[in-house]
Amino acid sequence: MDKAIQHIPISLRITADGSHTLWREDWGEPFHSIYGAIQESQHVFINAGLAHCSVKFEKINLLEIGLGTGLNALLAWNFAVSNCKKIDYTGIEPFPLPQNLLSQLNYPQILTSTGSSEALQYIHEALYSGKKKEISDFFMVQVIRKDFRQVDYNPEAYHCIFFDAFDPAKVPELWTADAFRQLWEALAYGGGLVTYSAKGQIKRNLQEAGFKVEKLPGPPGKREIIRALKVL
Ligand SMILES: C[S@@+](CC[C@H](N)C(=O)[O-])C[C@H]1O[C@@H](n2cnc3c(N)ncnc32)[C@H](O)[C@@H]1O
Repeated sequence: MDKAIQHIPISLRITADGSHTLWREDWGEPFHSIYGAIQESQHVFINAGLAHCSVKFEKINLLEIGLGTGLNALLAWNFAVSNCKKIDYTGIEPFPLPQNLLSQLNYPQILTSTGSSEALQYIHEALYSGKKKEISDFFMVQVIRKDFRQVDYNPEAYHCIFFDAFDPAKVPELWTADAFRQLWEALAYGGGLVTYSAKGQIKRNLQEAGFKVEKLPGPPGKREIIRALKVL
């Protein structure tokens, strides 16, 4: 099990697209791709996940495993307001990052959409308050501060899942077939889970949990990513 993040040295770094990531000094590992944090999140989670699910469902209940900086939530907010698509976003994060790090993230400066700075602040407020927050007519966010394996999900409650835990080599216990089965049950038929890892063992664990797994081209620096579907 991961240690409480407050005790881990973490520093800000700039990735190749100019956007920040956070660097875990204990693992020598970033929270996002060093080839571009925004670029990776947009490619894996928004384009391969949210945009794909949006075609099938009118309103999206979205679950993120590992809210971290809130970047994926911010990009989902951007998608919601740009496409007039209602999104109810639930982030899971047992180890909230320190507020002094969160407040330095440069995502709103790069995104430039009107209101992105306030949106990121509201996402961070939701992380700290535990309360559901309406950021716009199209976007609600709440954060559950628990290990995702300890959450009681309603069956078929979500249409899209962003699975953004740390590397399976570091936390294999979060990428097991049992853990994925809980998420399969929480997902509606027709919905999908996306993740940045396309390792063979992860594909097999997802299949064992019931998912139909597709491999898609990855963002710069990554050959493939996974979209795992819940089909009848
Ligand atoms: C790769 S980072 C996520 C990056 C994040 N999505 C972002 O855009 O900044 C992995 C995140 O998973 C969180 N995490 C660790 N153990 C977890 C667990 N058992 N359940 C849910 N999240 C967990 C970590 O605290 C960390 O914030």
